[in-house]
Amino acid sequence: DSIYVLNGPNLNLLGLREPEIYGSDTLDDIAGMLEDRARDLDLTIDMRQSNHEGHLVDWLHEAQAHDAKAVLLNAGAFTHTSIALHDAIKGIRTPVIEVHLSNPLAREDFRHESFVGRAARGTIAGFGALSYLLALEAAARF
Ligand code: DQA
Repeated sequence: DSIYVLNGPNLNLLGLREPEIYGSDTLDDIAGMLEDRARDLDLTIDMRQSNHEGHLVDWLHEAQAHDAKAVLLNAGAFTHTSIALHDAIKGIRTPVIEVHLSNPLAREDFRHESFVGRAARGTIAGFGALSYLLALEAAARF
């Protein structure tokens, strides 16, 4: 089974971007960590990143079309703005887990709304790169 891991805007800068908030691991480091664990779980990881909202919408549809077991979605700032992502998650049967490195509820007010979280199966936030690994553990049990 495959797990789609979809990453939104600015996450290509991970490792360099505000490391005091997001940590020093890059997205490639996180992909490597997920792949190591996925091997043990007999899963494959399809890791992607885009700065464009529509790409994320397309990939959510693709996850269902390709019969992915689950999607781990860190939509970055689109989390707090995107009704299109909300609707895409609602529109597919594939379970989606919302993932964040930081804990948006402990940050600025404008991060307290999550249109992704309102549609997702569940949310893991605040554990840095480990948030992704914890989400994979949940997805493996679906
Ligand atoms: C983030 C949290 C969002 O509020 C922010 O816009 C990001 C990263 C996280 O992983 O902590 O880009 O999704």
